[in-house]
Amino acid sequence: MTNAFPTEPLHTGATPDLIEAMRTRRSVRAFLPTPVARETIEAILADAARAPSGTNTQPWRVRVLTGDTLAQVVAMAEQIHNDPAASAALKPEYDYYPAEWKSPFVDRRRKVGWDLYGLLGIGKADKARMHAQHGRNFRFFDAPVGLIFTIDRILSQGSWLDYGMFLQNIMLAARAHGLHTCPQAAWTHYHAQLAERLAFAPEEMLVCGMALGFGDPAAIENSLHTEREPVAGFASFHD
Ligand SMILES: Cc1cc2nc3c(=O)[nH]c(=O)nc-3n(C[C@H](O)[C@H](O)[C@H](O)COP(=O)(O)O)c2cc1C
Repeated sequence: MTNAFPTEPLHTGATPDLIEAMRTRRSVRAFLPTPVARETIEAILADAARAPSGTNTQPWRVRVLTGDTLAQVVAMAEQIHNDPAASAALKPEYDYYPAEWKSPFVDRRRKVGWDLYGLLGIGKADKARMHAQHGRNFRFFDAPVGLIFTIDRILSQGSWLDYGMFLQNIMLAARAHGLHTCPQAAWTHYHAQLAERLAFAPEEMLVCGMALGFGDPAAIENSLHTEREPVAGFASFHD
């Protein structure tokens, strides 16, 4: 990496690579078994760690799961997911979502859910297939790499902002290597089990998981295109 101050726009192609990475990132929910080289994962994490953080606190800590460890974590989580009593007893350490929803958030949430299930041909009454699809989270959607993110629990909301930038950097850097990702709050329910298996320090708190690998272009769920509000819907300009 150079220390020279960068002044040029990043035009290496018709569209700057960074914008292309933003536009082609999507949450991928079916991966090929193709392994990802350790050097690639390290390069992605090194680049992602260039994310800003308040007073350069760098609040991230990542566990990279592959091979046997990944298989063991998947087996643990799937077993609980498929045991109604055990999964009902799970409680996330923090709430990713609000207890009470309101419009427009709940409408968008429902839409993405039904769009995904619609692609997969899962109907509203098909609880067994919904359960199975949700359970694919706990296989990291068959990705060869599972990432588990923690933060020191003394850190405040500001550090969670920093964390989001780091997570997005990982997802964009992955695109530069031809890889895809799926960020996963689903793992928050398994914080106690992950803490035990992965030997979290007492001050470590689970933030989320993320699947990383080569997306399966033939998987119908990977054709999901999620909508966004137009700029006029969320920005106002004040001259
Ligand atoms: C922090 C975070 C957690 C998420 N958790 C899950 C998850 O557990 N399972 C899942 O399938 N998708 C998860 N998503 C993906 C969102 O559903 C997805 O980002 C959203 O629908 C927009 O779609 P896109 O990512 O394809 O643009 C998560 C996204 C974020 C940012």
